[in-house]
Amino acid sequence: PIVPVILAGGSGTRLWPISRDSLPKQFQSLASDRTLYQEALERVADPTIFTAPLVLTHEDFRFFARRQASDIGIEATVALEPTRRDSGPALIAAALLAQRIAGEHCLVMSLAADHVVGDRPLFRDAVFKAASAAAAGNIVTFGIKPTAPRTSYGYIRPGTPLEQDGSYAVDTFVEKPNTATAERYVSEGYLWNSGNFMFPAALLIEEATRFEPEIVEAVRAAVDNAAEDLGFLRLDVKAFGAAPAKSIDYAVMERTRRAAVIEGVFSWSDIGSWNAVHELGESDVAGNVTRGAVALLDSRNSYVRSDGPLVAAVGLDGISVVATEDAVLVMPTSRSEDVKPLVAKLKAER
Ligand code: GDD
Ligand code: MG
Repeated sequence: PIVPVILAGGSGTRLWPISRDSLPKQFQSLASDRTLYQEALERVADPTIFTAPLVLTHEDFRFFARRQASDIGIEATVALEPTRRDSGPALIAAALLAQRIAGEHCLVMSLAADHVVGDRPLFRDAVFKAASAAAAGNIVTFGIKPTAPRTSYGYIRPGTPLEQDGSYAVDTFVEKPNTATAERYVSEGYLWNSGNFMFPAALLIEEATRFEPEIVEAVRAAVDNAAEDLGFLRLDVKAFGAAPAKSIDYAVMERTRRAAVIEGVFSWSDIGSWNAVHELGESDVAGNVTRGAVALLDSRNSYVRSDGPLVAAVGLDGISVVATEDAVLVMPTSRSEDVKPLVAKLKAER
């Protein structure tokens, strides 16, 4: 069996005012009536392939993580990080915990909690391919054909084909290159890293120990001294706090020579900004996507969502309006990337 791990401890600001530090986007519903986290859980809710899911998140989100799982009938093991150390320590903790659950030689599939993946059957095919490449001793990434030189992704250069059907050795993995480099990578046929991985737990630990022994030592102690508390598994505060903060991409993926890539043929979006939410939503004939109490007149190509008051607008074109109980965002949708600096400004002024 494969142990599915959901990494649900990140925080995103580009979807403000829906995504907040106190309730980040993975626990929100954006493109369907499920939250992104619930969609991730459902993606791996297949007992013929997977064990029950293991969720790693920050302790602040513990009730969301458990409640949103049980609301869709899924019993997850929820392990809590006492401090924010990025995805590296979280995934290493997950690998160590998976070995306790399913044995030393188990495979782990890790999923980001905040993506939208279409085509369940195609996803399943990719899982089978990845499992066979992982079982042969690889840390497998799911590559996505790039559509633009985005700088917020990891880039993968596929190398020699491996024996396993459809997988390639990873020649190079570069996390978040600058724009010029990203442009070159796109033209040279690199793939985006989708942020999901399949690997033997022991191999990830071996590679992490090679490159980041300090993280592994701290995380191992945090797992060994973890305490059961009201059904949560709390990683030890002091030990976990000693782990340097680093994403798994920088900690392991850029450096390991044991990585493989399969081209994820499923549709994928990391739904990182409002323009992506607009694109994924179901639009009316004029290209508007609306949600909640919204009334539009003579408007086109706009995204309007209200989780609070009635929002009524006239003559919008290419505009996003996102209203909550206590905050409203208005901008041309093309400026979606600027929500991040906007939120930084709000924080600085408060
Ligand atoms: N448990 C836990 N703890 N999860 C975390 C933490 C943490 O401290 N930090 C991040 N995560 C989770 C996020 O919730 C998300 O599900 C996943 O790990 C990836 O983290 P992000 O912070 O969203 O990473 P990113 O988007 O900058 O980059 C990653 O994803 C890209 C695709 O969306 C990288 O893997 C890139 O290479 C990749 O292209
Ligand atoms: Mg992300």
